[in-house]
Amino acid sequence: MKVVVIGAGGREHAICLQLARSPRVTEVIACPGNPGTARLGRCWDQIDPIVQIDAFIERCKAEQIDHVVIGPEAPLVAGVADRLRGAGIAAFGPGAAAARLEGSKAYSKQFMDRHQIPTALHRTIDHIDDLEAALDALPPQVVVKASGLAAGKGVIVCEDRQQARQAATAMLVEGSFGESGRVVVLEERIHGPEVSVLAIVDGTDALLLPTAQDHKPLLDGNIGPNTGGMGAFCPGTVIGSADLDTIRRTIIEPTLEGLVADQIEYSGVLYAGLMMTKSGPRVLEYNCRLGDPETQPVLLRLTSDFADILEATADHSPSSASVTWDPRSSLCLVLASEGYPAAPRKGQLLEGEIFSDVDDDIQVFHAGTTAGPDGDCVVSGGRVLGVTALADSLEDAKKRVYDRAKQIQFDGKICRTDIGTYQDTYNISESLEQQ
Ligand code: AMP
Ligand code: GLY
Repeated sequence: MKVVVIGAGGREHAICLQLARSPRVTEVIACPGNPGTARLGRCWDQIDPIVQIDAFIERCKAEQIDHVVIGPEAPLVAGVADRLRGAGIAAFGPGAAAARLEGSKAYSKQFMDRHQIPTALHRTIDHIDDLEAALDALPPQVVVKASGLAAGKGVIVCEDRQQARQAATAMLVEGSFGESGRVVVLEERIHGPEVSVLAIVDGTDALLLPTAQDHKPLLDGNIGPNTGGMGAFCPGTVIGSADLDTIRRTIIEPTLEGLVADQIEYSGVLYAGLMMTKSGPRVLEYNCRLGDPETQPVLLRLTSDFADILEATADHSPSSASVTWDPRSSLCLVLASEGYPAAPRKGQLLEGEIFSDVDDDIQVFHAGTTAGPDGDCVVSGGRVLGVTALADSLEDAKKRVYDRAKQIQFDGKICRTDIGTYQDTYNISESLEQQ
Protein backbone atom coordinates (compact mmCIF):
# COMPACT_ATOMS: atom_id res chain seq x y z
CA MET A 1 0.00 0.00 0.00
CA LYS A 2 1.12 3.54 -0.76
CA VAL A 3 -0.50 6.04 1.58
CA VAL A 4 -0.65 9.85 1.60
CA VAL A 5 -1.40 11.60 4.90
CA ILE A 6 -2.74 15.15 4.54
CA GLY A 7 -1.58 17.52 7.28
CA ALA A 8 1.51 18.77 9.08
CA GLY A 9 0.85 18.41 12.80
CA GLY A 10 1.65 16.03 15.63
CA ARG A 11 -1.45 14.01 14.82
CA GLU A 12 -0.25 13.46 11.25
CA HIS A 13 3.25 12.57 12.45
CA ALA A 14 1.72 9.93 14.77
CA ILE A 15 -0.38 8.55 11.88
CA CYS A 16 2.70 8.44 9.61
CA LEU A 17 4.63 6.60 12.32
CA GLN A 18 1.96 3.89 12.58
CA LEU A 19 1.90 3.54 8.79
CA ALA A 20 5.71 3.35 8.68
CA ARG A 21 5.47 0.51 11.19
CA SER A 22 2.95 -1.39 9.04
CA PRO A 23 4.43 -4.38 7.19
CA ARG A 24 1.93 -3.76 4.40
CA VAL A 25 2.70 -0.12 3.72
CA THR A 26 5.46 0.35 1.17
CA GLU A 27 5.52 4.12 1.22
CA VAL A 28 4.19 6.89 3.48
CA ILE A 29 3.96 10.38 2.02
CA ALA A 30 2.91 13.39 4.08
CA CYS A 31 1.30 16.43 2.44
CA PRO A 32 2.80 18.86 3.32
CA GLY A 33 4.37 17.03 6.30
CA ASN A 34 7.07 18.36 8.62
CA PRO A 35 10.68 17.51 9.56
CA GLY A 36 9.40 14.63 11.73
CA THR A 37 7.35 12.97 8.97
CA ALA A 38 10.22 13.61 6.54
CA ARG A 39 12.23 10.95 8.38
CA LEU A 40 9.49 8.41 7.64
CA GLY A 41 8.91 9.13 3.95
CA ARG A 42 8.58 11.80 1.30
CA CYS A 43 6.78 15.11 1.76
CA TRP A 44 4.55 16.63 -0.92
CA ASP A 45 5.08 20.17 0.25
CA GLN A 46 4.40 21.99 -3.00
CA ILE A 47 0.74 21.10 -3.37
CA ASP A 48 -2.26 22.20 -1.34
CA PRO A 49 -5.07 19.62 -1.56
CA ILE A 50 -7.71 22.25 -0.75
CA VAL A 51 -6.88 24.84 -3.39
CA GLN A 52 -5.28 22.46 -5.91
CA ILE A 53 -7.55 19.46 -5.57
CA ASP A 54 -7.43 18.57 -9.28
CA ALA A 55 -3.63 18.56 -9.32
CA PHE A 56 -3.59 16.57 -6.06
CA ILE A 57 -5.88 13.90 -7.55
CA GLU A 58 -3.74 13.72 -10.70
CA ARG A 59 -0.63 13.25 -8.61
CA CYS A 60 -2.27 10.50 -6.52
CA LYS A 61 -3.24 8.72 -9.73
CA ALA A 62 0.17 9.17 -11.34
CA GLU A 63 1.90 7.78 -8.26
CA GLN A 64 -0.67 4.98 -7.79
CA ILE A 65 -1.60 6.00 -4.27
CA ASP A 66 -3.88 3.44 -2.62
CA HIS A 67 -5.16 5.46 0.28
CA VAL A 68 -5.33 9.09 1.44
CA VAL A 69 -5.73 9.80 5.17
CA ILE A 70 -7.08 13.29 5.81
CA GLY A 71 -5.82 14.50 9.21
CA PRO A 72 -7.18 18.04 9.81
CA GLU A 73 -10.72 19.38 9.64
CA ALA A 74 -10.23 22.09 7.00
CA PRO A 75 -9.76 19.72 4.00
CA LEU A 76 -12.66 17.56 5.25
CA VAL A 77 -14.98 20.56 5.53
CA ALA A 78 -13.80 21.67 2.07
CA GLY A 79 -14.90 18.32 0.56
CA VAL A 80 -11.48 16.80 -0.24
CA ALA A 81 -12.71 13.31 0.78
CA ASP A 82 -15.71 13.59 -1.58
CA ARG A 83 -13.49 14.56 -4.49
CA LEU A 84 -11.01 11.74 -3.84
CA ARG A 85 -13.71 9.08 -3.54
CA GLY A 86 -15.37 10.52 -6.65
CA ALA A 87 -12.07 9.95 -8.47
CA GLY A 88 -11.89 6.35 -7.24
CA ILE A 89 -9.19 6.94 -4.59
CA ALA A 90 -9.85 5.51 -1.11
CA ALA A 91 -10.01 8.35 1.41
CA PHE A 92 -10.12 8.13 5.20
CA GLY A 93 -12.38 10.92 6.42
CA PRO A 94 -15.98 12.07 6.02
CA GLY A 95 -17.31 14.15 3.14
CA ALA A 96 -18.27 17.83 3.38
CA ALA A 97 -21.91 17.24 4.33
CA ALA A 98 -20.88 15.03 7.27
CA ALA A 99 -18.00 17.30 8.29
CA ARG A 100 -20.52 20.09 8.96
CA LEU A 101 -20.92 18.44 12.37
CA GLU A 102 -17.57 20.08 13.13
CA GLY A 103 -17.55 22.92 10.60
CA SER A 104 -20.71 24.55 11.96
CA LYS A 105 -21.48 24.47 15.67
CA ALA A 106 -24.90 25.98 14.86
CA TYR A 107 -25.65 23.01 12.60
CA SER A 108 -24.33 20.47 15.10
CA LYS A 109 -26.55 21.92 17.83
CA GLN A 110 -29.58 21.63 15.53
CA PHE A 111 -28.55 18.07 14.77
CA MET A 112 -28.31 17.21 18.48
CA ASP A 113 -31.74 18.74 19.15
CA ARG A 114 -33.28 16.92 16.20
CA HIS A 115 -31.96 13.56 17.37
CA GLN A 116 -32.28 14.06 21.13
CA ILE A 117 -28.55 13.81 21.78
CA PRO A 118 -27.83 15.20 25.28
CA THR A 119 -26.05 18.58 25.13
CA ALA A 120 -26.03 21.93 26.95
CA LEU A 121 -28.95 24.37 26.65
CA HIS A 122 -28.13 26.78 23.81
CA ARG A 123 -29.17 29.60 21.50
CA THR A 124 -27.72 30.54 18.09
CA ILE A 125 -27.62 34.17 16.91
CA ASP A 126 -26.23 35.97 13.89
CA HIS A 127 -26.95 39.56 14.93
CA ILE A 128 -25.94 41.52 18.03
CA ASP A 129 -29.54 42.80 18.40
CA ASP A 130 -30.58 39.25 19.34
CA LEU A 131 -27.98 38.89 22.09
CA GLU A 132 -30.00 40.05 25.11
CA ALA A 133 -32.97 37.83 24.30
CA ALA A 134 -30.64 34.85 23.91
CA LEU A 135 -28.90 35.60 27.22
CA ASP A 136 -32.32 35.96 28.92
CA ALA A 137 -33.15 32.43 27.81
CA LEU A 138 -29.99 30.96 29.38
CA PRO A 139 -28.56 30.72 32.91
CA PRO A 140 -26.22 33.58 33.98
CA GLN A 141 -23.00 31.73 33.15
CA VAL A 142 -22.62 30.99 29.46
CA VAL A 143 -20.02 29.85 26.96
CA VAL A 144 -19.71 31.86 23.75
CA LYS A 145 -18.67 29.92 20.65
CA ALA A 146 -17.80 31.03 17.13
CA SER A 147 -19.89 28.67 14.98
CA GLY A 148 -17.25 28.11 12.30
CA LEU A 149 -13.79 26.57 12.44
CA ALA A 150 -11.36 28.30 14.82
CA ALA A 151 -8.63 25.72 15.53
CA GLY A 152 -10.01 25.05 19.02
CA LYS A 153 -9.67 28.72 19.99
CA GLY A 154 -13.15 30.07 19.22
CA VAL A 155 -14.72 29.14 22.57
CA ILE A 156 -14.87 31.64 25.44
CA VAL A 157 -15.99 30.25 28.79
CA CYS A 158 -17.51 33.26 30.57
CA GLU A 159 -17.92 34.01 34.26
CA ASP A 160 -20.81 36.43 33.88
CA ARG A 161 -23.12 38.13 31.40
CA GLN A 162 -20.87 41.11 30.96
CA GLN A 163 -18.00 38.91 29.79
CA ALA A 164 -20.41 37.04 27.51
CA ARG A 165 -21.54 40.35 25.97
CA GLN A 166 -17.93 41.30 25.30
CA ALA A 167 -17.11 37.95 23.71
CA ALA A 168 -20.22 37.94 21.51
CA THR A 169 -19.64 41.57 20.49
CA ALA A 170 -16.04 40.82 19.53
CA MET A 171 -17.22 38.00 17.28
CA LEU A 172 -20.38 39.52 15.77
CA VAL A 173 -19.43 43.21 15.55
CA GLU A 174 -15.63 43.36 15.53
CA GLY A 175 -15.17 40.21 13.47
CA SER A 176 -12.58 38.74 15.86
CA PHE A 177 -12.89 35.27 14.30
CA GLY A 178 -13.60 36.47 10.78
CA GLU A 179 -16.31 34.53 8.94
CA SER A 180 -16.19 31.79 11.60
CA GLY A 181 -17.60 34.21 14.19
CA ARG A 182 -20.42 35.68 12.06
CA VAL A 183 -22.73 33.13 13.67
CA VAL A 184 -22.41 32.61 17.42
CA VAL A 185 -23.64 29.80 19.65
CA LEU A 186 -24.35 30.73 23.27
CA GLU A 187 -24.45 27.81 25.65
CA GLU A 188 -25.28 27.15 29.27
CA ARG A 189 -22.00 26.61 31.12
CA ILE A 190 -21.97 23.05 32.46
CA HIS A 191 -19.52 21.36 34.78
CA GLY A 192 -17.72 18.05 35.14
CA PRO A 193 -14.68 16.15 33.89
CA GLU A 194 -14.21 15.99 30.13
CA VAL A 195 -13.64 12.94 27.97
CA SER A 196 -12.89 12.66 24.26
CA VAL A 197 -14.51 9.55 22.79
CA LEU A 198 -13.17 8.73 19.35
CA ALA A 199 -14.78 6.20 17.09
CA ILE A 200 -13.81 5.07 13.62
CA VAL A 201 -17.12 4.71 11.86
CA ASP A 202 -18.81 3.90 8.60
CA GLY A 203 -22.60 4.21 8.49
CA THR A 204 -23.75 2.68 11.78
CA ASP A 205 -20.66 0.50 12.29
CA ALA A 206 -18.20 1.83 14.87
CA LEU A 207 -14.82 0.89 16.28
CA LEU A 208 -14.26 2.76 19.55
CA LEU A 209 -10.71 3.82 20.40
CA PRO A 210 -9.46 3.91 24.01
CA THR A 211 -10.43 7.18 25.68
CA ALA A 212 -7.94 9.98 26.07
CA GLN A 213 -7.97 13.07 28.23
CA ASP A 214 -6.89 16.37 26.78
CA HIS A 215 -5.74 19.47 28.70
CA LYS A 216 -7.11 22.42 26.73
CA PRO A 217 -6.36 25.51 28.84
CA LEU A 218 -2.93 27.07 28.35
CA LEU A 219 -1.80 27.16 31.99
CA ASP A 220 -1.27 24.82 34.93
CA GLY A 221 -4.37 24.27 37.03
CA ASN A 222 -6.56 24.37 33.90
CA ILE A 223 -6.65 28.14 33.74
CA GLY A 224 -5.95 30.67 30.99
CA PRO A 225 -7.21 30.73 27.40
CA ASN A 226 -8.32 27.58 25.60
CA THR A 227 -5.81 26.14 23.14
CA GLY A 228 -5.89 23.26 20.68
CA GLY A 229 -4.62 21.13 23.61
CA MET A 230 -1.46 21.27 25.75
CA GLY A 231 -1.12 17.57 26.46
CA ALA A 232 -3.10 14.36 26.75
CA PHE A 233 -2.92 10.89 28.17
CA CYS A 234 -4.40 7.49 27.32
CA PRO A 235 -6.29 5.59 28.63
CA GLY A 236 -8.34 8.30 30.28
CA THR A 237 -9.14 7.82 33.95
CA VAL A 238 -12.56 9.48 34.01
CA ILE A 239 -14.57 6.52 32.78
CA GLY A 240 -14.14 2.76 32.75
CA SER A 241 -15.02 0.33 29.97
CA ALA A 242 -18.58 -0.20 31.25
CA ASP A 243 -19.23 3.52 31.03
CA LEU A 244 -17.66 3.65 27.59
CA ASP A 245 -20.23 1.09 26.55
CA THR A 246 -23.01 3.30 27.91
CA ILE A 247 -21.60 6.20 25.89
CA ARG A 248 -21.59 4.02 22.80
CA ARG A 249 -25.31 3.26 23.29
CA THR A 250 -26.49 6.70 24.42
CA ILE A 251 -24.33 9.00 22.30
CA ILE A 252 -22.32 7.38 19.51
CA GLU A 253 -25.06 5.07 18.17
CA PRO A 254 -27.84 7.73 18.29
CA THR A 255 -25.48 10.10 16.46
CA LEU A 256 -24.81 7.56 13.71
CA GLU A 257 -28.51 6.73 13.45
CA GLY A 258 -29.29 10.45 13.26
CA LEU A 259 -26.88 10.83 10.35
CA VAL A 260 -28.51 7.91 8.54
CA ALA A 261 -31.97 9.42 9.20
CA ASP A 262 -30.70 12.72 7.75
CA GLN A 263 -29.33 10.77 4.74
CA ILE A 264 -25.76 11.83 5.41
CA GLU A 265 -23.05 9.27 4.68
CA TYR A 266 -20.35 9.25 7.33
CA SER A 267 -17.06 7.39 7.01
CA GLY A 268 -13.95 8.18 9.03
CA VAL A 269 -13.53 9.48 12.55
CA LEU A 270 -16.37 10.67 14.73
CA TYR A 271 -15.02 12.43 17.80
CA ALA A 272 -17.43 13.34 20.56
CA GLY A 273 -16.13 15.86 23.10
CA LEU A 274 -18.13 15.08 26.25
CA MET A 275 -18.60 16.68 29.62
CA MET A 276 -19.57 14.22 32.35
CA THR A 277 -22.13 16.24 34.32
CA LYS A 278 -24.08 15.30 37.42
CA SER A 279 -27.02 14.55 35.15
CA GLY A 280 -25.09 12.32 32.75
CA PRO A 281 -22.72 12.75 29.79
CA ARG A 282 -23.44 15.64 27.43
CA VAL A 283 -21.90 16.44 24.07
CA LEU A 284 -19.93 19.70 23.98
CA GLU A 285 -18.91 19.31 20.36
CA TYR A 286 -18.36 16.87 17.54
CA ASN A 287 -15.19 16.73 15.52
CA CYS A 288 -14.87 14.86 12.27
CA ARG A 289 -11.21 13.88 12.61
CA LEU A 290 -8.78 12.49 15.14
CA GLY A 291 -8.00 14.83 18.04
CA ASP A 292 -4.67 16.53 18.40
CA PRO A 293 -2.80 15.98 20.74
CA GLU A 294 -5.00 12.99 21.78
CA THR A 295 -3.98 10.97 18.72
CA GLN A 296 -0.35 11.06 19.77
CA PRO A 297 -0.80 9.05 23.02
CA VAL A 298 -3.68 6.95 21.59
CA LEU A 299 -1.87 5.76 18.47
CA LEU A 300 1.37 5.14 20.36
CA ARG A 301 -0.57 2.39 22.18
CA LEU A 302 -1.73 0.70 18.95
CA THR A 303 0.10 -2.62 18.53
CA SER A 304 -1.86 -3.90 15.50
CA ASP A 305 -1.60 -2.64 11.94
CA PHE A 306 -3.12 0.82 11.33
CA ALA A 307 -3.44 -0.08 7.63
CA ASP A 308 -5.98 -2.78 8.62
CA ILE A 309 -8.16 -0.07 10.17
CA LEU A 310 -7.96 2.00 6.97
CA GLU A 311 -8.91 -0.96 4.82
CA ALA A 312 -11.74 -2.14 7.06
CA THR A 313 -13.18 1.39 7.04
CA ALA A 314 -12.94 1.59 3.25
CA ASP A 315 -14.82 -1.75 3.23
CA HIS A 316 -17.57 -0.13 5.36
CA SER A 317 -16.80 -2.24 8.39
CA PRO A 318 -14.25 -0.59 10.74
CA SER A 319 -15.29 -2.86 13.63
CA SER A 320 -14.10 -5.91 11.65
CA ALA A 321 -10.46 -4.78 11.90
CA SER A 322 -8.62 -6.80 14.53
CA VAL A 323 -7.17 -4.18 16.81
CA THR A 324 -4.84 -4.60 19.78
CA TRP A 325 -3.52 -2.07 22.27
CA ASP A 326 -0.41 -1.91 24.40
CA PRO A 327 -1.60 -2.38 28.02
CA ARG A 328 0.75 0.39 29.16
CA SER A 329 -0.23 4.03 29.63
CA SER A 330 0.88 6.82 27.37
CA LEU A 331 1.22 10.54 27.87
CA CYS A 332 1.91 13.44 25.52
CA LEU A 333 3.28 16.82 26.56
CA VAL A 334 3.03 19.70 24.10
CA LEU A 335 6.00 22.04 23.94
CA ALA A 336 4.66 25.35 22.64
CA SER A 337 6.22 28.65 21.67
CA GLU A 338 5.68 31.72 23.86
CA GLY A 339 2.75 33.83 22.74
CA TYR A 340 0.68 30.74 21.87
CA PRO A 341 -2.29 30.64 21.29
CA ALA A 342 -2.71 34.31 20.30
CA ALA A 343 0.60 35.11 18.55
CA PRO A 344 3.31 32.45 18.93
CA ARG A 345 6.92 33.45 18.40
CA LYS A 346 8.49 31.78 15.37
CA GLY A 347 11.90 31.21 13.83
CA GLN A 348 13.86 30.02 16.89
CA LEU A 349 16.37 27.22 16.44
CA LEU A 350 15.48 23.82 17.97
CA GLU A 351 18.26 21.99 19.77
CA GLY A 352 18.60 18.73 21.61
CA GLU A 353 16.89 15.35 21.33
CA ILE A 354 14.19 16.31 18.82
CA PHE A 355 13.99 13.09 16.78
CA SER A 356 13.11 9.47 17.59
CA ASP A 357 13.50 6.18 15.76
CA VAL A 358 10.54 4.24 14.37
CA ASP A 359 10.57 1.60 17.10
CA ASP A 360 11.17 3.87 20.10
CA ASP A 361 8.51 3.84 22.77
CA ILE A 362 9.23 7.50 23.42
CA GLN A 363 8.47 9.65 20.41
CA VAL A 364 8.94 13.34 19.70
CA PHE A 365 6.11 14.20 17.33
CA HIS A 366 6.69 17.32 15.25
CA ALA A 367 4.00 19.96 14.72
CA GLY A 368 5.15 23.60 14.47
CA THR A 369 8.61 22.88 13.10
CA THR A 370 10.19 23.45 9.72
CA ALA A 371 13.56 22.94 8.10
CA GLY A 372 15.84 25.95 8.64
CA PRO A 373 18.30 27.36 6.09
CA ASP A 374 21.23 25.30 7.40
CA GLY A 375 19.42 21.97 7.42
CA ASP A 376 18.50 22.46 11.07
CA CYS A 377 15.02 22.72 12.50
CA VAL A 378 13.24 25.94 13.50
CA VAL A 379 9.95 26.83 15.19
CA SER A 380 7.15 27.55 12.71
CA GLY A 381 3.95 27.31 14.77
CA GLY A 382 2.39 27.56 18.21
CA ARG A 383 2.41 23.92 19.23
CA VAL A 384 5.94 22.91 18.32
CA LEU A 385 6.50 19.32 19.51
CA GLY A 386 4.51 16.58 21.26
CA VAL A 387 6.79 14.51 23.49
CA THR A 388 4.97 11.21 23.97
CA ALA A 389 5.96 8.09 25.90
CA LEU A 390 4.67 4.69 26.97
CA ALA A 391 5.31 3.32 30.46
CA ASP A 392 3.85 0.85 32.94
CA SER A 393 2.00 3.58 34.80
CA LEU A 394 0.77 7.04 33.97
CA GLU A 395 3.16 8.42 36.57
CA ASP A 396 6.12 6.72 34.88
CA ALA A 397 5.01 7.90 31.44
CA LYS A 398 4.82 11.42 32.82
CA LYS A 399 8.32 11.16 34.27
CA ARG A 400 9.78 9.85 31.01
CA VAL A 401 8.13 12.62 29.01
CA TYR A 402 9.23 15.45 31.29
CA ASP A 403 12.79 14.09 31.41
CA ARG A 404 12.96 14.01 27.61
CA ALA A 405 11.37 17.46 27.32
CA LYS A 406 14.24 18.85 29.39
CA GLN A 407 16.64 17.68 26.68
CA ILE A 408 14.95 19.84 24.06
CA GLN A 409 15.70 23.53 23.88
CA PHE A 410 14.41 26.52 21.98
CA ASP A 411 13.98 30.14 23.01
CA GLY A 412 10.52 30.81 24.37
CA LYS A 413 9.73 27.13 25.08
CA ILE A 414 6.59 26.85 27.21
CA CYS A 415 4.70 23.84 28.53
CA ARG A 416 2.33 22.89 31.30
CA THR A 417 3.93 21.10 34.25
CA ASP A 418 0.79 19.23 35.31
CA ILE A 419 -0.19 17.05 32.34
CA GLY A 420 -1.60 13.79 33.70
CA THR A 421 -2.30 15.25 37.14
CA TYR A 422 -6.05 15.50 36.70
CA GLN A 423 -7.12 11.93 37.16
CA ASP A 424 -10.80 12.62 37.77
CA THR A 425 -13.18 9.72 37.94
CA TYR A 426 -16.86 9.56 37.13
CA ASN A 427 -19.53 6.93 37.38
CA ILE A 428 -22.38 7.18 34.91
CA SER A 429 -24.92 5.07 36.79
CA GLU A 430 -24.43 7.08 40.00
CA SER A 431 -24.88 10.33 38.13
CA LEU A 432 -28.01 9.06 36.38
CA GLU A 433 -29.52 7.98 39.72
CA GLN A 434 -29.14 11.57 40.92
CA GLN A 435 -31.22 12.86 38.02
P1 AMP B 1 -15.57 22.93 22.27
O1 AMP B 1 -14.60 23.34 21.20
O2 AMP B 1 -16.98 23.27 21.97
O3 AMP B 1 -15.38 21.52 22.75
O4 AMP B 1 -15.12 23.78 23.54
C1 AMP B 1 -13.77 23.84 23.98
C2 AMP B 1 -13.73 23.71 25.48
O5 AMP B 1 -14.52 24.72 26.09
C3 AMP B 1 -14.29 22.40 26.01
O6 AMP B 1 -13.33 21.39 25.98
C4 AMP B 1 -14.68 22.79 27.41
O7 AMP B 1 -13.59 22.79 28.29
C5 AMP B 1 -15.16 24.22 27.26
N1 AMP B 1 -16.63 24.24 27.05
C6 AMP B 1 -17.27 24.16 25.87
N2 AMP B 1 -18.60 24.18 26.04
C7 AMP B 1 -18.81 24.27 27.35
C8 AMP B 1 -19.98 24.35 28.17
N3 AMP B 1 -21.21 24.35 27.64
N4 AMP B 1 -19.81 24.43 29.51
C9 AMP B 1 -18.58 24.46 30.06
N5 AMP B 1 -17.43 24.40 29.35
C10 AMP B 1 -17.53 24.31 28.01
N1 GLY C 1 -7.43 18.42 21.23
C1 GLY C 1 -8.69 18.85 20.84
C2 GLY C 1 -9.01 18.67 19.43
O1 GLY C 1 -8.31 18.00 18.68
O2 GLY C 1 -10.03 19.19 19.02
